Amino acid sequence: MFRYDGKLADSIFDYCRWRLSLDPVPLDYGGGAERLDQHLEGLIRPEGSDAEEVLRIFSEHLATRIVSCDSPRFLSFIPAAPTKAALLFDMVVSCSSLQATSWLEAAGAVAAENQALRFLADLAGMPAGAGGCFVAGGTAGNLSALLVARDTAGRRGVGPGGRAGRPLVAVSEEAHSSVSKAAHVIGAGLLLVPTADHRLTGAALEAALEADPRSEDVIAVVATGGTTNAGLVDDLAGVGEVARSRRLWFHVDAAYGGAAMLSPRARPLFAGIEEADSFIVDPHKWLFAPFDCAALLYREPRLARAVHTQDAAYLDPVHDDDQWNPSDFAVHLTRRARGLPLWFSLAVNGTDAYREAVESAIELAREAARLVRAAGHLELVREPELSVVLFRRLGWDREEYARWSSRLLARQTAFVLPTTWEGEPVARLAFLHPDTTPEMVAEIIDSMR
Ligand SMILES: Cc1ncc(COP(=O)(O)O)c(C=O)c1O
Repeated sequence: MFRYDGKLADSIFDYCRWRLSLDPVPLDYGGGAERLDQHLEGLIRPEGSDAEEVLRIFSEHLATRIVSCDSPRFLSFIPAAPTKAALLFDMVVSCSSLQATSWLEAAGAVAAENQALRFLADLAGMPAGAGGCFVAGGTAGNLSALLVARDTAGRRGVGPGGRAGRPLVAVSEEAHSSVSKAAHVIGAGLLLVPTADHRLTGAALEAALEADPRSEDVIAVVATGGTTNAGLVDDLAGVGEVARSRRLWFHVDAAYGGAAMLSPRARPLFAGIEEADSFIVDPHKWLFAPFDCAALLYREPRLARAVHTQDAAYLDPVHDDDQWNPSDFAVHLTRRARGLPLWFSLAVNGTDAYREAVESAIELAREAARLVRAAGHLELVREPELSVVLFRRLGWDREEYARWSSRLLARQTAFVLPTTWEGEPVARLAFLHPDTTPEMVAEIIDSMR
């Protein structure tokens, strides 16, 4: 099983070539009521199974039961649209078994990843000393950053310290679910800041901290640079100012929206991100990288290193203060060189192409809002800020949205799931694929008559 098998390599490369050339990528179907066990039955057995047959089963019965999030008709959750260069380079990372854990082992990979991280740090206006690493997703990024926030709180003289009480993280209700999960993991609670219009502002944060007797226990505030549900950017400058005045760790979760900093018209929304102690942006979302890839950046990486470095006798040779070990900046040790597909694609396609692709999704969201406004049976919930559009079908209840959504997938028109806005079911379109067209949006709108 360790010898090169040219026939198997050809089959796999042929499959990959075919998958890469699909234009457009079909939506396919997700999990329904039927079971897939029948196709898998007996495949893993002592004597092994024929490779062509296993690949056929995958291609015919399994791959078709995965909704393609890189289809231009995938408009739920946060879609994906990896560039061909990034996908191909991901194969290089896989075929070369590339890890990027430490400088000692993998300087070439780490240097390239750091170049991509620097590009992102520059987009945010972070200082020259900023740095971090790539992690598996926004969830891992938020957790790793908040752990640093907690472990450095004493040094900043905030939080319960030796007193009774657990540390708190201030957030708005629009913060992503991974933030409350991260708080739970680090043993922190949440101080929920009420917002007037779903947007966390400096004034709302200050008012909540003034009013809440638990505010002494707050160690950090998380603002969102592009909320998942509605694509709203918090008042990063205002929140950052309050955080600084109270010595709170200021983390910006820009997992989805951070890519919009590339767009000259969206960039002003992110003013203040340069003051963050840490921020994340997920290239596997709107920066067109394959899964799984999230960038985590710290203003002062030495603080993160002091928290995250793992100590073990066998790791001593790796620890050299002058060397950059990605393992030192998050909750992980061995790690795939998952930043390299982004790095390769940025280098090959150029940053202008990224800017244009991000702009096109913002423009499409505005066009979709225009189409919704023009449709008598629909009502726009609010003007889109980034690339998420919320709207309601007048007279529909939750069941009708669910039936409509299933119908659209069954007909392969689109994968669109409803969401909830102010307690009410509404339709939600999340754009980022450059090949999603206004005609596709019009088709969806028409299907709601
Ligand atoms: C704002 C935000 N933060 C965090 C996450 C979690 O990222 P991941 O799914 O990569 O863990 C998401 C995912 O959609 C998100 O939109």
